[in-house]
Amino acid sequence: MRQSSLVVVANRLPLDDNAAPDGACEWRRSPGGLASALHAILEQTPATWVGWAGGIGPAPQLSDIGGLRLRPVSLSAAELRGYYEGFANSTLWPLYHDAVQQPVFDRGWWETYRIVNRRFAEAAAEVAEHGAAVWVQDYHLQLVPQMLRDLRPDLLIGFFMHVPFPPPELYMQLPRRVELLRGMLGADLVGFQRPQAAHNVAQLAQKLLGAHATDDVITVDGRTVHTGAFPVSIDVAEMRALSSSPDVLSQAKQLRHDLGQPKRVLLSVDRLDYTKGIEHRLTAYSELLRDGHVKVRDTVMVQVAVPSREQVDSYQDLRDRIESEVGRINGEFGRVGEPAIHYLNQPFARSQLAALYQTADVMVVTPLRDGMNLVAKEFVAAREDGGGALVLSEFAGAAAELEQAFLVNPHDVDGLKETLLHAMSAEPADLSARMTAMREHLVGHDILAWARAYLTALDHTGRLAERLPDTAEKAPAASVPWHR
Ligand code: ADP
Ligand code: F6P
Repeated sequence: MRQSSLVVVANRLPLDDNAAPDGACEWRRSPGGLASALHAILEQTPATWVGWAGGIGPAPQLSDIGGLRLRPVSLSAAELRGYYEGFANSTLWPLYHDAVQQPVFDRGWWETYRIVNRRFAEAAAEVAEHGAAVWVQDYHLQLVPQMLRDLRPDLLIGFFMHVPFPPPELYMQLPRRVELLRGMLGADLVGFQRPQAAHNVAQLAQKLLGAHATDDVITVDGRTVHTGAFPVSIDVAEMRALSSSPDVLSQAKQLRHDLGQPKRVLLSVDRLDYTKGIEHRLTAYSELLRDGHVKVRDTVMVQVAVPSREQVDSYQDLRDRIESEVGRINGEFGRVGEPAIHYLNQPFARSQLAALYQTADVMVVTPLRDGMNLVAKEFVAAREDGGGALVLSEFAGAAAELEQAFLVNPHDVDGLKETLLHAMSAEPADLSARMTAMREHLVGHDILAWARAYLTALDHTGRLAERLPDTAEKAPAASVPWHR
């Protein structure tokens, strides 16, 4: 295998195995914040991406995407259960998201998590040139930084956590809290979405490892680890190019027509995940219908909920609850040919998402907890026209940057109802001022700015950042599926 001087290690490659209409197999960009963010910068950067290609069994042969080499890591069925569905997504994911769902502590999963982290570390060690920079991503791979350091002390190692890092009182529940903390602190730079996360880690490093720690620097085992906040972003140029393309504009027009030319379209786009607050949102919307504040003949809600982690029990239960609630709301409030909620449990191409964003009068992004939430940023970037209102949860990392959104506490259903009504009735001039301010922020804080800031903090020289493209991709190439 050829070696690279920049290696990214993430649980998932930016690909989803997908059956084409003619039955052939094709690869599409996988939904999810991490894949969206990294794909945008790496497609034009000479680097290697180490990750799982989805599915079980031997790793597939994958061709390069532009300058980017793909190094797939295989998982067996048992590993998928213990590592991905189990420890990563039934223990760490709920715990790190404020335990909005009870985390499961299954002693059998730990060993598999460790073994799979080791496999990722070995793959990264194999494809990294001497002295290369290796950038490890997210909670799935929290042990990789230290494992990699043991294998390859010559490497510069970064780690970025895309999800929230919890306060000590929650983290302390983890049975393997010391190993996980030590694993992550094997990196030279540990980045988070929000400064509070770096503060939480500093407190834990003092308490669990006896380290000397501030919110920027932790000294552990005689090594210095830098920490800090680097809020992730989106490919603003891609979203702007897509949303001003004639094709997308005509798709948006058609969508509005297909929705029955309502006065108002409310839109939500999420992975079908219990952290996204979909149930709270449905409750608020159904009460607005019940109380007569919203009428089906002039307002339509579109809920896109792309399937996610479907083998995990809590996700199956959530899907059943949501689908039964959507059915109840449509049964009670819908009319022939006029459902109250259009529920779409499907993946969409980037151009289709851009058309949906164009169609929305109110974008409702109300997670109970979210590391960042790129959908909120995509919506703002897509609205060159300055139209549309963004209702955004205070518990999304994005709320710290998109301050002009209609901010809301999604746990407070009455407050959520009021905020939705406020956003629906806001004056166009108010909406336009809010959207312009948020768009200006995003233009200066896009995905390239994020990667540059992180890589410069990692190597202190700016040489790594120089390998990034000058501008993120402008052509909407990602809307076209890749073929095997
Ligand atoms: P998370 O990382 O938890 O999934 P984010 O909002 O940060 O949440 O990122 C979600 C990403 O997945 C966004 O880039 C969004 O465009 C994409 N996405 C969401 N729903 C779909 C869908 N139905 N089809 C394709 N991509 C989707
Ligand atoms: O942002 C958190 C995250 O787990 C990412 O790592 C990933 O891109 C996204 O959610 C989607 O999750 P999954 O890879 O489990 O489909």
